[in-house]
Amino acid sequence: MTRIIEELDAQQSARAFSDRDAFALDVLVGLSETRKTLPSKYMYDDEGSRLFEQITRLPEYYLTDCELDTLQRHRDRIADYAPRAPFHVIEFGAGSLRKPGILIDRFVERGLDFEYVPVDISREAMESLAGDLERRYPEVAMRGLVSDYLTGIHWLTGNTRRRSFVLFLGSNIGNFNRAQATLFLRKLWNGLSDGDVVLIGFDLRKDIELLLAAYNDSQGVTKQFNLNLMRRINRELGGHFNLDAFRHFATYDVISGAMESYLVSQGEQDVYIEAVERSFSFHAWEPIHTEYSYKYLESDIDLLAQTTGFRVKEHLYDSKGYFVDSLWEVHKTDAPGSPDQPSARRSGT
Ligand SMILES: C[S@@+](CC[C@H](N)C(=O)[O-])C[C@H]1O[C@@H](n2cnc3c(N)ncnc32)[C@H](O)[C@@H]1O
Repeated sequence: MTRIIEELDAQQSARAFSDRDAFALDVLVGLSETRKTLPSKYMYDDEGSRLFEQITRLPEYYLTDCELDTLQRHRDRIADYAPRAPFHVIEFGAGSLRKPGILIDRFVERGLDFEYVPVDISREAMESLAGDLERRYPEVAMRGLVSDYLTGIHWLTGNTRRRSFVLFLGSNIGNFNRAQATLFLRKLWNGLSDGDVVLIGFDLRKDIELLLAAYNDSQGVTKQFNLNLMRRINRELGGHFNLDAFRHFATYDVISGAMESYLVSQGEQDVYIEAVERSFSFHAWEPIHTEYSYKYLESDIDLLAQTTGFRVKEHLYDSKGYFVDSLWEVHKTDAPGSPDQPSARRSGT
């Protein structure tokens, strides 16, 4: 009898299992759970990316202004950590050029040799980013990866000849729970080399009223952003969601520190999704969880760095002290979790 062992490379697997199949499978699994859920990464189709850009300009959504302020205030300090040898600026979940542009400005001014490698699941966000970069910095080389974070880390693992300066801004890390954040950062650490630098944006715990307002804005853009997930399922997977029959709800869990977003069924209903050939039943007021946005204490950040093999170099704050961009360095000789790490500097507030 013939026995064949075949190794499938990533491209072969991708052909066999399309993005649409992956989306359908995630929707099937998420809506079949007792506590229904949909992964937040699917919020960012073309329309979702446009809506998110609108959210960043809302008066209640303090996160973007705070991080822009942080990057402006500390741009020279951050640039001091850039390698002198050729390096990649690899940015996970880049979105737009507004934030990285502040640092790219400095890197260009200092005549540093770098290639910009944004990783984003949204093709529209990537194309608009590429256009902006071309207009503002025609001399900067860019290699945009339209992929999820893990494929981006995989790319990084195969491209270690250059040093890496990693950006993970916008509190994107807050979309992971603590276990997922640890797993992601450990995988990232595996793909990096000793001395590589990482800049991560964390939203800090703060007045609950400010948090609630940021995720329940008065113009209803966040509501549209959340509902867009159903619009996308309808369009791409033949879903039959009636958007008027669901409402956006965002709440804060004081114990876990997470802002949590839901779509809540306003009545008893069945929704058929053609791509998975199934109906899903909803009770009146049954929620679908759609997004976490975890808020951090400074001590949580230090612990996360320590347990994943990074050394915290500095915490950089905005003028209100709402947000922190934390600068970490990879230390391959540090055993993760070793207690003897030097304490970080505080810069800002
Ligand atoms: C909250 S936005 C932040 C954008 C920008 N970094 C900022 O600070 O404003 C998240 C970005 O990450 C992308 N994204 C979300 N989940 C992703 C994933 N799993 N893999 C790759 N990109 C993802 C989205 O398309 C979006 O552009």
